[in-house]
Amino acid sequence: MSTMRTATATGTSSRTQDAGRAGALAELLVTAATRAPSPHNTQPWRFEVRGNGIALHLDRSRLLGVADPEGREARLACGAALFNLRLEARARGIAAVTELLPDRDVPDLLGVVRLAGRHQPTGEERALASAIPRRHTNRRPFAEEQPPEPVRHALRRAAQLESGLLDFLDEPTRFADLARMIRSAEAAQRDDDAFMAELGRWTTGVASVSDGVPVRASGPPPLEEGLVAVRRYGPGHRPPRPYERVPLLGVVLTDEDDQRAQLVGGHAMQRVLLAATAVGLSTSFVSQPMEVPSVKEELDRLVGSRGHPQTVLRVGYGYPGLPTPRRTAREVTNGLPPVAEPG
Ligand SMILES: Cc1cc2nc3c(=O)[nH]c(=O)nc-3n(C[C@H](O)[C@H](O)[C@H](O)COP(=O)(O)O)c2cc1C
Repeated sequence: MSTMRTATATGTSSRTQDAGRAGALAELLVTAATRAPSPHNTQPWRFEVRGNGIALHLDRSRLLGVADPEGREARLACGAALFNLRLEARARGIAAVTELLPDRDVPDLLGVVRLAGRHQPTGEERALASAIPRRHTNRRPFAEEQPPEPVRHALRRAAQLESGLLDFLDEPTRFADLARMIRSAEAAQRDDDAFMAELGRWTTGVASVSDGVPVRASGPPPLEEGLVAVRRYGPGHRPPRPYERVPLLGVVLTDEDDQRAQLVGGHAMQRVLLAATAVGLSTSFVSQPMEVPSVKEELDRLVGSRGHPQTVLRVGYGYPGLPTPRRTAREVTNGLPPVAEPG
């Protein structure tokens, strides 16, 4: 009897320990997922621990009705979060596979990352995963010197490995066209009261808020109006500084332009951002031309048959950016335990 009681107690405590370990693992993976970028730091996701998988649902209450009415940017963000989740699992030695849009009847279930067995992490996976917490949107000035061709090649490869394309618009004519589009979209947004009100609602001055863009993550005002406008969050009380005259801009493209393509675009975007971070580059977004429909049509024509634009990135050398807050894994996940750690 006493032996039985001991055995039962041991079994229960080892099951409790297993569940505790699995819960801790799920928490780590979801935390990595939530470090993904999202428009205005809306974090439009909700996670659900399901057996050996972690599901990501689109949180429609966090869509930007003015800047992103179709939810493209939100899906890119969710694609990036799924990318981080899978990468973090692999870098920790766990085989992980993502299934996008697994249930036709539940369209807001955007993806499930299934954990199955062991995986020998590659050096590249480790390097990219270690960049997850160091990647920040850097809206401050970059150096005039642009990243050289081997670095651009590595970033294009990063997009291709995730079934996307990164098109650097660095020839003078295409750059000038894109710069004009950015200025015209920025002006249209500044004149749009609904856009500015939404931007204001997601701009925060308080450190304790766990979403939205803190004013301190904004860049200083430009010393002179440059070729490309960087989005400003909040009033600029800092002294103006010169921005790089010719920023390096790349458009992330996908073959198709449906919801799946937007998630794939999010994978490609995030791999580019992490690959850039891993080699010491700074990155930010220049989404104005994606968000003003008439300008988006011009951008479509500019990239032509190369693919469908998903987002525009600015890449360069800058002082490290600042972290922005996130809701915790527990706040965004149903349940948390038990993801069984594969044996
Ligand atoms: C699809 C997408 C579009 C974005 N567009 C812009 C933009 O146009 N301007 C900008 O300053 N930040 C943009 N951001 C960056 C977010 O504001 C940023 O990811 C968020 O505030 C969280 O900060 P972090 O990237 O430093 O973690 C965009 C992010 C995503 C995912």
